[in-house]
Amino acid sequence: MKKEINPWSNELVKDYDYLFQDFGMQRIGPDLRAKLGEHRLYRRGIVFGHRDADVFVAAALAGKPTAVMTGIKPSGEFHLGSKMTAEQIIHLQKQFGSTVFYAIADVESYADNGLRFEDSHQNAVDNVADLLALGLDPKKTVFYKQSENMHVANLASIFARKTTLNTLEALYGHQNLSLYLAVLTQAGDILAPQLDVFGGPKNVLVPVGVDQDPHIRFTRDLAPKFKEELGLLTPSATFHRFFRALSGQTKMSKRDPLSMMTLNDDEALLKKKLANALTGGRATAEEQRRIGAEPDKCVVFELMQFHFYDDDKDLAEMEADCRSGKLLCGECKAIRLKHIRAFYKKHQGKKAKLRAKAEKLLEVPIGFRKRK
Ligand code: TRP
Repeated sequence: MKKEINPWSNELVKDYDYLFQDFGMQRIGPDLRAKLGEHRLYRRGIVFGHRDADVFVAAALAGKPTAVMTGIKPSGEFHLGSKMTAEQIIHLQKQFGSTVFYAIADVESYADNGLRFEDSHQNAVDNVADLLALGLDPKKTVFYKQSENMHVANLASIFARKTTLNTLEALYGHQNLSLYLAVLTQAGDILAPQLDVFGGPKNVLVPVGVDQDPHIRFTRDLAPKFKEELGLLTPSATFHRFFRALSGQTKMSKRDPLSMMTLNDDEALLKKKLANALTGGRATAEEQRRIGAEPDKCVVFELMQFHFYDDDKDLAEMEADCRSGKLLCGECKAIRLKHIRAFYKKHQGKKAKLRAKAEKLLEVPIGFRKRK
């Protein structure tokens, strides 16, 4: 079997073990978990792997300046995977006082989806409004678009000097040059927080989905090559598991709207999506009452585990009621829907008030390229 991760596909990675065995990813053990602080994403092993995150944590705990850096393609609405990364950076910002850099990856969106820069602006504003509503502190965050950040664009040119086509092909297969340019741009995103304009070299943590590991490996190989020229420290990363599509098949994808929930879904849409979601139910009600159902197969269970139940007690109760056959899947879905709706109502209410602020935060700062 060919072992590879392709950041531009929507295939579900079924087995993460080879990442540890063959690609040098590290598991998040109890020591590191304790130092990262309390969060369900760590407690439930959803953020499961890392590269040198302990180095970042040690620097932060020693009082050194640190940054947290991640990004999103502005190709659509915020989905639950983006929410997961958002919750993690918000927690890191609070836990370690790090400055957050958040890239709107419009260069990558153009490369990947042909979305023109000017056509992704509304998505970008919408995404930033979600981040604010989830609790990201704008006073300690730098938001920017790749196409407007000259520091990032210049780094991409500089990094190209020590990058060969062979390296890119080995990592990503045969791709057109705009995707390779997006890779160099993402390396620019990740390493820019260490430029003098942003306070010079520092430890940077990049929380991402596991599909981004090729970009992380590439960037970590690149940084030492520019140690003398730019003084860059090797960045650290954490990796989260993928959430399945609601059908249970592939990972959630913006390319398939019914496969995933977005933070803009209205009540009717939520209901429809949940009604269609895969469960671990039995063939008949009688059988389910008799032998119980299978939460491990159930996407709704995973939904609550990954995203909507913070309290382990709620999750344990859901699991017990499933296994014992006490609840049938329809009854169970109705309970979860009520809980999810309450989150959405609160979130969407906050978000509506933050849109103007999001618009303002995406105004082009000095040293960045002006928007037409
Ligand atoms: N490639 C990421 C994605 O597809 C988005 C991204 C762009 C990013 N620049 C980044 C992620 C820098 C982490 C760090 O989702």
